[in-house]
Amino acid sequence: MYLHVFVVSFCFVIGSGDPTPGKYTIDDTPGYGRGFDGIGAISGGGATSKQLPGYMFKYQDQIFDFLFKPNFGASLQILKVEIGGDAQSSEGTEASHMHNSWDENYYRGYEWWIMEEAKKRNPNIRLYGLPWAFPGWVGNGSVHDPWGDPQLTVDYVVKWIEGAKVFHHLDIDYIGIWNERPHSVPYIKLLRRTLDQRNLTSVRIVAADGFWGGIVQDILQDSELADAVDSIGTHYPGTLSPREAVMTGKQLWASEDYGSFNDEIGGGCWARTLNMNYVNGLMTSSIAWCMVTGFYYPLPWYRDALMTANRAWDNSYTVNTPIWITAHTTQFTEIGWHYLAHGSGVGNFSGGGSYVSLVSPDGKNLTIVIETMSHDHSVCTRPPLSPYTVSQQNVTLVLKGSFRNITTLNVWRTRFQYGGKASTVFRKLRPVKVRRNRVKLQLLPDEVYTLTTMPTGNKGSFPSGPSQGDFPFIYLENFEGYSQNSEPFTFAQQMGSFEVIYTGVPHKNVLRQMVLQEPVSWCSPETQIQHPLNIVGDYNWTDVSVEMEIKLGDVNGSNGYFLAVRVDRGGCNSSSARGVFLYIYPSQKQFVLSADIGQTSTIMKGSIETPNPAWNKVSLKAEGNYADATFNDVSLMHVQLPSGPANGFVGLGTSSWGLADFDNMLIQPANWTSTARTQEDSRLYFKPGQ
Ligand SMILES: *[C@@H]1O[C@H](CO)[C@@H](O)[C@H](O)[C@H]1NC(C)=O
Ligand SMILES: *[C@@H]1O[C@H](CO)[C@@H](O)[C@H](O)[C@H]1NC(C)=O
Ligand SMILES: *[C@@H]1O[C@H](CO)[C@@H](O)[C@H](O)[C@H]1NC(C)=O
Ligand SMILES: *[C@@H]1O[C@H](CO)[C@@H](O)[C@H](O)[C@H]1NC(C)=O
Ligand SMILES: *[C@@H]1O[C@H](CO)[C@@H](O)[C@H](O)[C@H]1NC(C)=O
Ligand SMILES: *[C@@H]1O[C@H](CO)[C@@H](O)[C@H](O)[C@H]1NC(C)=O
Ligand SMILES: *[C@@H]1O[C@H](CO)[C@@H](O)[C@H](O)[C@H]1NC(C)=O
Ligand SMILES: *[C@@H]1O[C@H](CO)[C@@H](O)[C@H](O)[C@H]1NC(C)=O
Ligand SMILES: *[C@@H]1O[C@H](CO)[C@@H](O)[C@H](O)[C@H]1NC(C)=O
Ligand SMILES: *[C@@H]1O[C@H](CO)[C@@H](O)[C@H](O)[C@H]1NC(C)=O
Repeated sequence: MYLHVFVVSFCFVIGSGDPTPGKYTIDDTPGYGRGFDGIGAISGGGATSKQLPGYMFKYQDQIFDFLFKPNFGASLQILKVEIGGDAQSSEGTEASHMHNSWDENYYRGYEWWIMEEAKKRNPNIRLYGLPWAFPGWVGNGSVHDPWGDPQLTVDYVVKWIEGAKVFHHLDIDYIGIWNERPHSVPYIKLLRRTLDQRNLTSVRIVAADGFWGGIVQDILQDSELADAVDSIGTHYPGTLSPREAVMTGKQLWASEDYGSFNDEIGGGCWARTLNMNYVNGLMTSSIAWCMVTGFYYPLPWYRDALMTANRAWDNSYTVNTPIWITAHTTQFTEIGWHYLAHGSGVGNFSGGGSYVSLVSPDGKNLTIVIETMSHDHSVCTRPPLSPYTVSQQNVTLVLKGSFRNITTLNVWRTRFQYGGKASTVFRKLRPVKVRRNRVKLQLLPDEVYTLTTMPTGNKGSFPSGPSQGDFPFIYLENFEGYSQNSEPFTFAQQMGSFEVIYTGVPHKNVLRQMVLQEPVSWCSPETQIQHPLNIVGDYNWTDVSVEMEIKLGDVNGSNGYFLAVRVDRGGCNSSSARGVFLYIYPSQKQFVLSADIGQTSTIMKGSIETPNPAWNKVSLKAEGNYADATFNDVSLMHVQLPSGPANGFVGLGTSSWGLADFDNMLIQPANWTSTARTQEDSRLYFKPGQ
C-alpha cells in the first residue's frame, strides 16, 4: 500500500486539443502515441490474497476466472506479486523463499500458485515481482536498508526469479526495486548486469516503485542506469507526471495505483485513472492495489481491491465494480497496442471527462474508451481533491485515416447512478452505425463507454454461490493434511513466518515460526512489531477461550511465546495491538499477562510450574471483565481486566525471533465447559483440500 506522501507534480501541455467543441478526431495520420503496456493488479503488499488458498477449488476457479480469464472479467494483462520478506507489508506477512542465507524453498506462500493460475488462463499475462520487506540477513546488519551489500540483495532477488522458472515454469517479465522505499543506483546496475550474465536478459527492470523525483533525476544523470531501467514505475501519481520523467524517454507506469474502496465511487475513480494516467501523464500501464481483498475484516484498507474474497470459511466472494471497469479496457486491447496521439484520439472532453484510443499492431482494430466521472474523494484521483465538473454533453467522434472506412462499432457501457437512473455495469449495447465518418454520443456524467471494432467482450458470470456464514466458533486445528511449508488457511501472520512442518510422531504436523532474525522492515521502524505474531478467527468475537500446545525450538528457539484474545488490530500498527496477551517464558518459569502486545500495560506477572522440556499446554480465556489462564492445566490466574477492546482476533506468537512449534489449537466460546464439548462440535475443523 502507499505512503501518504504528496508529490509535487506539474502538468505539461500536450498538443493543442481539438478546435471544435463537441467534435473529436480519431485519426492515425499524425502517427501514434506511446505503446500500451497493459492494465494489472497486485497480489501482495502484503498478504492481500491470504484467504484464497482456503476456498474450495470450485470457487477458487471462479475467482481466478473473474481476475485472469481473457474476455470474462477483469482479464488482467499484468499480475504483480510481492516477493515475500517475512515482515509485515500492509495486511500481513508473506514468506520469503530464503528465511536464512542457508535456506531456499520455492513452495512457501501462495503467490507462486496465483501466478500459475493466472498463466493457465492467460499465457500472455505479464508477471512482475517486487519486494516490500527482506529477510534480516539480506540487510547485512541493517534492518532499515537492504543496500549495504548489493550483491547479497541481487543474489536473493535473482534466486527468486530463477526459482520461479525452475520450480514453477514461470517466466518473470518485470522486476521492481523496493516498494516505496529508497532505491540504490549501484544495486539497479548490478541487478541488470547479473540478470544479463545469468541469461535473464528478457527480465526487465521497473524502477523504482516509489515516487517520481529521485529515480527520474538519477536516470537523467546516469546513462548506465538509464540503460538498465526499462520503465519508470511510480505510485499513486494522481494521473500526472513531471516534465523530467517524460524527458527520460522511458515508458512511464503507474506501477501502483487505485487504492480505493471498491464501490461505484472507487470504480469510477479507477475508470478515470485508467484513462487520465495516459491523457495527463503519458503513463502506459496502471496497476491496481490490490487485486483481491483476501484478508480478514477489519485489517487496514479493507475492500480497497478489485474484488472481495476473504471468507474461505463460507466460500462466499463478491465481484466488485472495479472488475468491470478494468474489463472496459482489457477485454478490447492487448499489450503491444498503441495509443493514438493527443488531439487525434486522446484527450479531454470540453464538458468534462476523457477519451483514449488504442490501435492494434496491424493498425486494423480500434478501441476507444470514454469516461465521464465526476466523483472525487479517493486516493487514486489525487490531485485534485475536489469533484470534477462534468456536464451532460453531446460529442461527435470523427473517424479519419485508417479508420475512415469503419462502418459500425461495438458498444459497451457502464452507467452509474445519475439523475435517479439505476446503475448498469459493463453492458453490451447495440452496435453504433458510423455515418459519414461520424459517431454521435450523448454522454451523461458518471459513465464509461468502450467503442470498438473488436468482436470480444463478455460479462462473465456463475450461478450465485454460497451465502455468508459465521466463522466457526468451535475451531480445532491440528495442522494435519497441509503440505510442507504451507500456511494454514485461517492463520493470518502479521510478523514472521508460520509454516506447517512435519515433525514425526506423535505431533506429526505442527505450525512452526521460522524466522530467526529481525527482517529489513517495510513498515516504519516506529510501528514495526519486534517479534512474530499470527492472528486467527473472527474479529467480532468477544468472550472466547483458546488453548494450544507449544514447544520452543531445540536450537535457535525463541525465548518465549504467547497466546492472545481480543487482539484489536493487525497491519503495520500491530505493535500497538491491544487485547489480552499471555506471555510465557519457560526458562525463567514466568508468565506475564498484559493488555497490549508490547507489555506496556501489564496486568499481572507470576511464575509457572516447572515446564516440560518440550511441549506445554497453555490456555487463555476472556469472559466479560475477567481473564483466566492455565499452564499444563494448572490455573495461573482469575483476574479482573482493565478496560480494553471488547472483541478481536485470537493471537499467538513468539516473544523473540526464533523457532517455536504450535499444535492442537482449540478455540471455543468462553462459556463452554469442556464437558459441553462433543464429537459433534469437533466436526467444525477446517480441513485443507476439497
Ligand atoms: C556485511 O557485513 C559484514 C559483517 O558486519 C561485513 O564484514 C561486511 O563488510 C558487510 N558487507 C558489506 C558489503 O557491507
Ligand atoms: C538462455 O535462454 C534462452 C531463452 O530464454 C535459452 O534458449 C537458452 O538455452 C539459454 N541459455 C543458457 C546458457 O541457459
Ligand atoms: C484534462 O482535464 C483534467 C481535469 O480537468 C485536467 O487536470 C488536465 O490537465 C487535462 N489534461 C489535458 C491533457 O488537457
Ligand atoms: C495506524 O495507527 C494510526 C494512529 O492510531 C492511524 O492514524 C493510522 O491510520 C493507522 N494505520 C493503519 C494502516 O491502520
Ligand atoms: C481485429 O479485427 C478483426 C475484424 O476487423 C478481427 O477479425 C481480428 O480478430 C481482430 N484482432 C486483433 C487482435 O486485432
Ligand atoms: C444532445 O442532443 C440531443 C438530441 O439531439 C438534444 O436533445 C440535447 O439537448 C443535446 N444535449 C446537449 C447538452 O446539448
Ligand atoms: C477505404 O475506402 C476507400 C474508398 O472509399 C478505399 O480506397 C480504401 O482502400 C479503403 N481502405 C481500407 C483500409 O479498406
Ligand atoms: C463484524 O461485525 C461488523 C459490524 O457489525 C460486520 O460489518 C462484519 O461483517 C462482522 N465481521 C465478520 C467477519 O463477519
Ligand atoms: C541455527 O542457526 C545457525 C546459525 O546461527 C544455523 O547454522 C543452523 O542451521 C540453525 N539451525 C536451525 C535448526 O535453524
Ligand atoms: C454463551 O455465550 C454466548 C455469547 O458469546 C451466548 O450467546 C450463549 O447464550 C452463552 N451460552 C450459555 C450456555 O451461557
